[in-house]
Amino acid sequence: MTQHLAAPTSGTESVNPGERPEWWREAVIYQVYPRSFADGNGDGMGDLEGVRRRLPYLKALGVDAVWLSPFYASPQADAGYDVADYRAIDPMFGTLHDADAVIRDAHALGLRIIVDLVPNHCSDQHDWFQRALAEGPGSPLRERFHFRTGQGHAGELPPNDWESIFGGPAWTRTKNPDGTHGDWYLHLFAPEQPDFNWEHPAVQDEFRSILRFWLDMGTDGFRIDVAHGLVKAAGLPDMGHAGQLRLLGNQALPFFDQDGVHEIYRSWRKVLDEYAGDRIGVAEAWTPSAERTALYLRPDELHQAFNFHYLGTGWNAAALREAIDASLDAMRPVAAPSTWVLSNHDVVRHATRFADESAEQGLRRARAAALLMLALPGSAYVYQGEELGLPEVTDLPDEVRQDPSFFKENGQDGLRDGCRVPLPWSGTEAPYGFGPAAGGPSWLPQPASWAELSVEAQTGDPDSTLELYRSALALRREHPALGAGDAVEWLDAPEGVLAFRRTARVDGGAAWHGDFLCTVNTTSEPVRLPAPGRPLLASVPLAAPGDETELPADSAVWWAT
Ligand code: NOJ
Repeated sequence: MTQHLAAPTSGTESVNPGERPEWWREAVIYQVYPRSFADGNGDGMGDLEGVRRRLPYLKALGVDAVWLSPFYASPQADAGYDVADYRAIDPMFGTLHDADAVIRDAHALGLRIIVDLVPNHCSDQHDWFQRALAEGPGSPLRERFHFRTGQGHAGELPPNDWESIFGGPAWTRTKNPDGTHGDWYLHLFAPEQPDFNWEHPAVQDEFRSILRFWLDMGTDGFRIDVAHGLVKAAGLPDMGHAGQLRLLGNQALPFFDQDGVHEIYRSWRKVLDEYAGDRIGVAEAWTPSAERTALYLRPDELHQAFNFHYLGTGWNAAALREAIDASLDAMRPVAAPSTWVLSNHDVVRHATRFADESAEQGLRRARAAALLMLALPGSAYVYQGEELGLPEVTDLPDEVRQDPSFFKENGQDGLRDGCRVPLPWSGTEAPYGFGPAAGGPSWLPQPASWAELSVEAQTGDPDSTLELYRSALALRREHPALGAGDAVEWLDAPEGVLAFRRTARVDGGAAWHGDFLCTVNTTSEPVRLPAPGRPLLASVPLAAPGDETELPADSAVWWAT
C-alpha cells in the first residue's frame, strides 16, 4: 500500500522553506553524528568526506538543514565534545578543506549547515589549559578556568560538593610542575573537559572570534552545547547534598541556568546578525521549566532551543498534548518557534524507548510519533537513522564501548553508544555501505538485522519507514498549513487519541487548499471515528475510509479537509 495517499490538488511549484525568510522557524534539521554517518576513507570511522558524498541523500530526504556534531581537533575523551582546537578539524574526520567542501556542496543543494559549538568546556589538551597547568599556581592563564585550592587539612578535598554529569566529583586535583599536589579544577563533565571561566574577558573574546571563524567559513549557525552551563553561581556554593544528576532539568542548580548566561547570548546575537542570511543559534539548554528555556530565545538572544520536555514525554496522548501546549505557550511570549525532537546522540533511540512490549510495537509507535512531530508548528529535529526506524543497539560488548559515562563508578549505564552505531546504507554484509568496502571496519559493530534496514533496502518500498519520512517531508514542504506557526487547534477525540487541526496560511502558489488535520491513536486498540477528511499519509496501512474511519492501534494519519 502507498503511504503517501493523495497527490496535491494542483501541480504548482512548491516553495522551498530553505529560501523563505526566517527559514529556521519551520526548518527540519537533520543531526549528523559524523563518526557514525558515512566513512569516506574506509578506516571504520565516519568523516566529512562521507558526509559530503551523502548530502544528496539528505536533500532527497527533504530536510532543510544539517547539524553536524563536533568534528574539531580532539582527543575524543567525549566523542569530540572535548575540543583541543576550535579552528581545526580532527584528522580522523578530515581537514578544513573537507569542511569547506561540505559547506559548499550543501549550499549548492539548498541545504544549510549548523555546526556544534562547545563553549562550556574544552579538552584538557587545549593549549590554554596545558599552559595553565605548566605555569603552575598563580599563572594568569589559570583564571580562564576554575582552579581552586582544595578543602581539608592539606587541600586533599574538592573545593565544593558539585558532581560531574558523568559521575564522581566535578573536580580533579592537579600536580604542580614540581610534582607536589596542587590545586583542583572544575569539570562538569569528564576530567578531560575543564570548564572555562566565562567571567574572563579572554574567554568571551575568544568565542566571539571562533563564531566569526565558522561564520566566515559559511556556516548557517551553531548548536550550542551546554548553553545553560557557562556561568556559575558566584562563589561556587555547595549544593548541600548528593544525587545532583537527577535534578538536572527540574530544579535550580548553582552551576546551570544562571541569569548571567543571557548577556553572553546577547553579545553572540550581535555577531550572528552581522552576517547575511539568518545565521542561527540553537541552545542545548537544560532548565527547570519551559519558561526558563524561553528566556534564551528572546528576540536579541538565540533562535531555538531543544525541547527536551517533548523528547522525554512517553507514548501517551494526554502527556503529549500537555507537552505540546506547554511548549507552544512558553514560546509565544518571546515569538520563538517551538522545536520538536524525539532522539539524539545522547538518548536511547525512540523506536526502542516506545517499545513496551515488542520491537515491532516500538517501531509502529516511532512511525506514528514522526508524523505527529512533523505536523506540529515550528522546527523539527531528525536524528540520523530515525528515518530508517533504527532501534537502539542494546547488546554492544563492553570492550567496544567508548562513552565516558560507561567507565565511571556509579555513573550512567553507558547507554549512549547504542544510539551511535554506524548507519546501514546498502548491501548485505557489514558495514552495509557505511564504509567503501564490504567486510570493512566500523568503529562500533552493526547488528546483522540492519541489512534489512539499510537505505538501499528501504528505498522504493512504500511501506518502509524511509519512504514514510520522505513522503511526510515532501508534504510538509507543500502544504501551507504545515511548518511555521504557534498554535494547534485541538479537536474532541476519544481517550488516548489526539486530533488537531492546522489552518492553512495564506500562501499564493501553494499546491494545497484547505486545512490540515492530524489524528494519533496512542492506544493499543483500533478506534472508530467519523472520517475527518481525505487521508494524505498514514503511519500504517489504512482501510479506505467511508463516513467512518478506523484509526489502527499506535498510528497517526494526516488528513486534508
Ligand atoms: C551535551 C552533548 O550532547 C553530549 O554528547 C556531551 O557529552 C555533553 N554535552 C558534554 O559536552
